[in-house]
Amino acid sequence: MMRPYKHEPFLDFSLEKNNQEMKAALQQVEEEFGNDYELIINGERIKTESKIVSYNPANKEEIIGTVSKANKELAGEAIIAAEAAFKTWKTWKPEARADILFRAAAIIRRRKAEFSALLIKESGKPWNEADADTAEAIDFLEYYAREMIRLKDGTPVLSRDGEYNKYVYTPMGVTVVISPWNFPFAIMAGTTVAPVVTGNTVVLKPASTTPVVAYKFIEVLEEAGLPKGVVNFCPGSGAEVGDYLVDHPKTSLITFTGSREVGTRIFDRASKLNPGQIWLKRTIIEMGGKDTVVVDKNADLEVAAESIFRSAFGFSGQKCSAGSRAVIHQDVYDEVLNRVIEIAKDKVVGDPTDYNTYMGPVIDQASFDKIMSYIQIGKEEGRVVFGGNGDPSKGYFIEPTIIADVDPEARIMQEEIFGPVVAFAKAKDFEEAIDIANNTEYGLTGALISNDREHIEYAKQNFYVGNLYFNRTCTGAIVGYQPFGGFNMSGTDSKAGGPDYLIQHMLPKTISETL
Ligand code: SER
Repeated sequence: MMRPYKHEPFLDFSLEKNNQEMKAALQQVEEEFGNDYELIINGERIKTESKIVSYNPANKEEIIGTVSKANKELAGEAIIAAEAAFKTWKTWKPEARADILFRAAAIIRRRKAEFSALLIKESGKPWNEADADTAEAIDFLEYYAREMIRLKDGTPVLSRDGEYNKYVYTPMGVTVVISPWNFPFAIMAGTTVAPVVTGNTVVLKPASTTPVVAYKFIEVLEEAGLPKGVVNFCPGSGAEVGDYLVDHPKTSLITFTGSREVGTRIFDRASKLNPGQIWLKRTIIEMGGKDTVVVDKNADLEVAAESIFRSAFGFSGQKCSAGSRAVIHQDVYDEVLNRVIEIAKDKVVGDPTDYNTYMGPVIDQASFDKIMSYIQIGKEEGRVVFGGNGDPSKGYFIEPTIIADVDPEARIMQEEIFGPVVAFAKAKDFEEAIDIANNTEYGLTGALISNDREHIEYAKQNFYVGNLYFNRTCTGAIVGYQPFGGFNMSGTDSKAGGPDYLIQHMLPKTISETL
């Protein structure tokens, strides 16, 4: 019997065994650095002249690998391959499709340290964040496989005397998956296998900064027995290949995680009917956040400070769920702010290959420049009480930066920075704090630190976010436990890792037979 879903535990690296294993894996992945990776279309490896170079953001000299880069013509071939594979893949039994995910999860579990080591090198994640990314990739495989088995016979509907009615879910067709660099394993894998397990076929365009881990994942799917053409690996530029794939008349579903700018562009383009297209495209779009940790006056202030710190600076603030705003009741504002500064002083910023590093670099030069320009704006809009400096000489390092006394309407309280910057704002009372938290175009995550039961109930009604947390961080949703997605400009709120997710990759069909 299938064991019930349970999320993959995080590793404790203070244990010698885990620590040694990760050190060995970091050396092991280095042996493959500089390798060349090809496109995979219908199972064939295709080498192109033009390349994407993936390097270590903590050490720009270190090339993780070079990856072939698709153009429109090759992207077109990938769509044709996916369309052809769909004809047979959709006929596979749901259980058989799920089995491939179970097997892939087992393969990754055996190679956990290797995958996490690659994430440390390719995305600059510190050990615990890389481990969480790998664990979440496993979770998506395990959870969606079980979800497909749950949904395989559809949802019961009523029948009258003399008829037999059924309501079932059928696959849609070719799915274009455009995945982000900030969860280069988990979100890439999750958004790829959701369409796959539901019987669709995929053209995957991974983020250009983290394509090697995506290639390695496709190898795992192949090893697990995925037939040719079901997932086609098609890295390329957003402007050329991304637009082309989104516009293609044979594309049925588009699943995207990334910036608001690109997400709204995809939403717009997907609404246009192209010659030869006989359906309306569906989109699953997860964009940004401007997420807030609210601290009530009746709260555990240590929990508050820890939650603010970890929400703001985990993976250098490069999460759509990052708590980039702290809104604090005036009575406890100074105490919480000072405690967060104290915590920051103790943390190591530097090379993420070192076990002791709390925070590594940001992803690339463009991110570095954008974040530094926001810090400049923050210097005018508030008081920099910690950090504020960056050094891009070896890797893209920016200090954890805390900016106090910021007006709720200020740009650094409104615009997504996607870096290690947190703005503090003071609220005169609890209700004002929630109003400030809601005063954004996004609506992804939020946390309230409070011991006041009435305030907790008030927040459940009025804190307008897709993922609301109490007395903890606003980051770190777990697949199957805290389905993830947000309101307003945060996206379609499709809730990755939740019970409604797979259904959005299928077309419901009513079957009614007169007996
Ligand atoms: N799911 C992640 C989190 O909750 C963000 O993508 O932090």
